[in-house]
Amino acid sequence: AKFTIVDQETCIACGACGATAPEVFDYNDEGIAFGILDDNKGIIEVPDELEEDLEDAMDGCPTGSIKMAAEPFTCKSVQPG
Ligand code: F3S
Repeated sequence: AKFTIVDQETCIACGACGATAPEVFDYNDEGIAFGILDDNKGIIEVPDELEEDLEDAMDGCPTGSIKMAAEPFTCKSVQPG
């Protein structure tokens, strides 16, 4: 299982992630990315068929703003990574 969030503090609105993984990431009015599946909460499992897109988007983000984990990002003690 994979869960993902965008760190919107470090996202520079480069726009690569939504091009790479259009079913996983979209952009707000400022062009800052967010996870589509769960409104960037990181609590809904990314479907298996989208995991490859997600990993490509992570690799392509110039600021490392896309975080992925095997568990939901619900607990603050869980470090995104
Ligand atoms: Fe932002 Fe990285 Fe996407 S900078 S727009 S999260 S590729």
